[in-house]
Amino acid sequence: MDEHKGRLRASELEDSGDVGINPTANLTMGEIIAARFNRRDLLRGSLAVAAISATVGTRALAANEQPARKAQAGSFDFAEIEAGVDQTHHVAEGYDAQVLLRWGDPIFADAPEFDPMNQTAERQARQFGYNSDFIGFIPLDGSSDRGLLVANHEYTNEELMFAGVGIQDSKDADFAKMTKELVDIEIAAHGGAVVEIRRVDGKWQVVKDSRYNRRITADTPMEITGPAAGHERMKTAADAGGRQVRGMVNNCAGGVTPWGTWLSCEENFNGYFWGKVGDNHPEARNYKRYGIGTPAYAWGKFYDRFDIAKEPNEANRFGWVVEIDPFDPNFVPKKRTALGRTKHEGAAGITNRDGRYVIYLGDDERFDYVYKFVTAGKVDPQNRAANLGLLDEGTLYVARYNADGTGTWLPVVHGQGPLTEANGFRSQADVLIETRRAADLLGATKMDRPEDIEANPQTNRVYVMLTNNTRRKEDQVDAANPRANNAFGHIVEMMPEGADHASTAFKWEVLVKCGDPAVASVGATFSSETTRNGWFGMPDNCAIDSQGRLWIATDGNNAKATGRADGLWALETEGELRGTSKHFFRVPVGAEMCGPCFTPNDESLFLAVQHPGEPEDGVQASFENPITRWPDFKDGVPPRPSVLVITKKGGGKIA
Ligand code: FEO
Ligand code: CA
Ligand code: CA
Repeated sequence: MDEHKGRLRASELEDSGDVGINPTANLTMGEIIAARFNRRDLLRGSLAVAAISATVGTRALAANEQPARKAQAGSFDFAEIEAGVDQTHHVAEGYDAQVLLRWGDPIFADAPEFDPMNQTAERQARQFGYNSDFIGFIPLDGSSDRGLLVANHEYTNEELMFAGVGIQDSKDADFAKMTKELVDIEIAAHGGAVVEIRRVDGKWQVVKDSRYNRRITADTPMEITGPAAGHERMKTAADAGGRQVRGMVNNCAGGVTPWGTWLSCEENFNGYFWGKVGDNHPEARNYKRYGIGTPAYAWGKFYDRFDIAKEPNEANRFGWVVEIDPFDPNFVPKKRTALGRTKHEGAAGITNRDGRYVIYLGDDERFDYVYKFVTAGKVDPQNRAANLGLLDEGTLYVARYNADGTGTWLPVVHGQGPLTEANGFRSQADVLIETRRAADLLGATKMDRPEDIEANPQTNRVYVMLTNNTRRKEDQVDAANPRANNAFGHIVEMMPEGADHASTAFKWEVLVKCGDPAVASVGATFSSETTRNGWFGMPDNCAIDSQGRLWIATDGNNAKATGRADGLWALETEGELRGTSKHFFRVPVGAEMCGPCFTPNDESLFLAVQHPGEPEDGVQASFENPITRWPDFKDGVPPRPSVLVITKKGGGKIA
């Protein structure tokens, strides 16, 4: 925040401890001594004591002195790239990285070409939006060479998109340079896109005249469904029924269901709302818990609904998981309230052995929680239409990680435990609208910013990315969040009891503590086979390919933090090499790595390069003076967030 004079940049919303702070004192497990060290930690000598950490550092350093060393019988064959930072992207030798869709690319046959000096909201609504995070690929006719790419457009960088604007500051300048015209472009650049793509002669193409292509924006009409739909707290002047809302915002990661819908997750929705409600307002406690009141966008200047002083319930209509049917361009997106209201990172799921669908959900804020949702009904492979109602009925749970390596899923259900009228919850709608406060009362474990969570269908193990938390103090350390001042994050692996994702019991262990293993004080626990290029910090998005291998995308690495750009790393999870990481791809300066998504045959890998050229570490950047002009590198053209597709030269699986 400091380097931007108080402007809370959208990307910093998720890295800010100034918003949505978890106020409860009960759940850092301060009373639980971090006494649990799993077998692998012991074998690797990764106990958090200096002497042993130093040993780890020495061992890692010895391996690091041999960067070309090939991992013994590992799952990944590619030749690792050099870690570093420069103006462009880098992929492992033997692979092509094709720029498939850039911000502003037309996605309809009659859509206008990108012209950064003459952009309008109307043009933007016919073009690919800004800053994709989640990417999904939904095959057409079972093909890995033809399908629907679904992409979230999470947020906008006005300083890089618009000439003469620079970084706008809500406190100093009241977003003075943000006109209604520019705000309307931003609204049209948010949301998501459905784009048919096809691979012809090895190259991927956009099918601009596809009947499936669609842009969804922060103004697209949507329906609110599930237990909170129609509740008094969801009603506004524009929607007396509490069931219709315009748009989705800050859609970060998501998921694709087995019935071929796209789940798109509203994350830092608080940054879009202006104004205040008084301390005695019925929503005051709710809005404080979500950090509403520190706008990152000028929208409230022109639209009353983005000002809670004028429309106090509108913010309750954001923070949900949105289900979209990409096969029907007229489908009204559904905000599925049964899955809870948080700063949702993602919504990746797995069909449980009993046929129910289970979705894992991270709430990306320091000291917030890991959730899962278990449908009441079963997935019906024969009846797609029946599955479209599945996400409206089921049970939401929040995770408690015990110090002995066990864990419990606590039902977030009205009437159970403290979730009663005495605590202000008169119905399940109240519980869902204030999911965070309900989870506080249940005694969930405060985590180090839970991001993507993916279940491996081959092993039923579940991987939780915990990106970082530099505000965790020594006396707040617990077994599942074992480092104070956790600058580099870690990954937790969860094993549902009996491989049953609907069970309320699980076991867990820390898979890896991230950061530079050569620096003893960091306490990283990558395996000693990991090279100096192979380690990473700040795990964020992840994917499991069809071979069951785990790939990690990062957000927050840069020259100062880790001496490397964000990128994609491949991480061994099984056997002797477990905890060994290899560097596959890196982004240009200022960007974070998003996606990742494999086609079912593992031959194509979609990656999203989000906010290339975004100012970082006090380095200023603007439309006029960007720190990179990736990927076009043309004078006058700003950096453009883009989706890439990686394929192997000459064909074959990504190895
Ligand atoms: Fe938008 Fe938590 O990443
Ligand atoms: Ca993310
Ligand atoms: Ca992120």
